[in-house]
Amino acid sequence: MAAPERNKRCGASSALLLFSVFGSSLGLFSGGDALKRKLSVEINPGAPAPPPDFDLLHVRAVGDNDTLHFLLCSQGAPTLLLVHTNTTASAIKVNWTQLEDRNHDGGLWVEPESSVLYSTALIFSRLLEYDDTNNTAEPSDFLPPYDLQDAVWSRLNLSGPDALLCGAVANGSVCLQLSVFEMEGRGLSLPRLLHTANSSQLSVKLDGLSPRSNHSRFLLELQTVGGAYPPSKVETRQSIDDEFTPAIFKVSLWVPSANGPDVPAFLQWKPVAYRQPDPTLEDATPCRNSAPLPQSSEGAAVTSGLIRGFFTQTEAFGLNVSFGLAGDPFYHSTGFLHWTLLLGSGSPPVDSLSPLVVSVMAFGLGMPTLLLLIGGIYVCVRKRAATVVYEQIN
Ligand SMILES: *[C@@H]1O[C@H](CO)[C@@H](O)[C@H](O)[C@H]1NC(C)=O
Ligand SMILES: *[C@@H]1O[C@H](CO)[C@@H](O)[C@H](O)[C@H]1NC(C)=O
Ligand SMILES: *[C@@H]1O[C@H](CO)[C@@H](O)[C@H](O)[C@H]1NC(C)=O
Ligand SMILES: *[C@@H]1O[C@H](CO)[C@@H](O)[C@H](O)[C@H]1NC(C)=O
Ligand SMILES: *[C@@H]1O[C@H](CO)[C@@H](O)[C@H](O)[C@H]1NC(C)=O
Ligand SMILES: *[C@@H]1O[C@H](CO)[C@@H](O)[C@H](O)[C@H]1NC(C)=O
Ligand SMILES: *[C@@H]1O[C@H](CO)[C@@H](O)[C@H](O)[C@H]1NC(C)=O
Repeated sequence: MAAPERNKRCGASSALLLFSVFGSSLGLFSGGDALKRKLSVEINPGAPAPPPDFDLLHVRAVGDNDTLHFLLCSQGAPTLLLVHTNTTASAIKVNWTQLEDRNHDGGLWVEPESSVLYSTALIFSRLLEYDDTNNTAEPSDFLPPYDLQDAVWSRLNLSGPDALLCGAVANGSVCLQLSVFEMEGRGLSLPRLLHTANSSQLSVKLDGLSPRSNHSRFLLELQTVGGAYPPSKVETRQSIDDEFTPAIFKVSLWVPSANGPDVPAFLQWKPVAYRQPDPTLEDATPCRNSAPLPQSSEGAAVTSGLIRGFFTQTEAFGLNVSFGLAGDPFYHSTGFLHWTLLLGSGSPPVDSLSPLVVSVMAFGLGMPTLLLLIGGIYVCVRKRAATVVYEQIN
């Protein structure tokens, strides 16, 4: 009676080991998010006529019980505003006279006001250029900055839920492309960022600018504004997987400092830019950000019509993103830079291990496990044979 029981246990423990190894590797594949949002897009909602010198894009992303409103505006410095509401029926209202006259608060609001869970905005305030004579990529010897609120911005160019906005700067262009998503997915070109239905993606292109020195490098100055919890600190997370963004093992996150692990909104990017429009690995140039510093909220409202129109009491933070490390080619080598970031609500998407890496790991773990299993079965069979013989003798 004792022998078959021991055999059962023997077989069960081997199977359990095998199951747990493959089970956990399979578990890494899943984690997909089924949330699907319904998108609708409008330009200058409710305006009697398009405003003469800017556009306001509104993308409504309706979920099961909530709505994300993404607003992109080119009045002053280009600004993306995200408002998260707790109903599917919230709406954006604009008082066009007040919004066009940039001296008034309250030109833009959400109805019902009580449905607003969180709002945050990102301002592209300035483009900075410096002469890196010694090729150290330590920003100094700055040339006069380009205030992006003074650039002439094109009309918004829409294709589906994607919008393109270009400003004339330094005989070239600074272009922002906004993408809002129905569901989880990954960008098609490098850095191939993972997004969810709760995030928007902005890609920034510095195309054909005339450098004003022989060793010019550029920085982009960004500001964030938030209602209760403005994004105020940048964290860097490590990843062991670089399959989608070759050679980059880091993700940077700009989040509010209050509120523990559950952040109401985030900005996320990989610290890399690309020097070609259709980049390959060789076109990568690392980027770095300075620590976020408190900024004047009145300054932010003066810079951006959308900030003035929507926020009454705000806190603002700002940082610089610099492109290139010591020894990297200067901007004029290709005359092009492309950087991508996400702005979203809730927790930032986390790259799970890709199927390729999982297969490699499963193989690496699976082979020894298989050998263990075969060994285990062999031992069990041997023991069983020995027991049978012993019983017969008995
Ligand atoms: C959303 O609404 C549905 C139906 O009204 C409800 O069953 C569900 O629990 C809600 N989900 C959340 C996350 O509140
Ligand atoms: C959310 O929805 C409820 C009911 O519709 C409402 O009473 C509440 O004030 C809303 N806002 C927030 C921030 O929870
Ligand atoms: C560049 O190097 C030279 C010589 O080492 C030094 O005198 C100069 O200050 C450096 N310039 C900058 C901007 O660091
Ligand atoms: C832009 O082009 C004009 C005319 O070619 C030139 O005078 C000017 O210096 C250029 N601007 C920059 C920033 O290089
Ligand atoms: C997206 O937002 C909804 C509503 O807040 C939430 O239920 C869902 O978990 C979020 N999904 C992700 C992947 O963050
Ligand atoms: C830039 O390079 C050109 C040609 O190599 C040279 O003539 C010019 O003096 C340099 N300009 C500066 C500001 O160093
Ligand atoms: C960005 O860099 C410039 C030049 O050093 C500096 O004047 C500015 O304050 C920086 N902006 C932020 C937000 O740190």
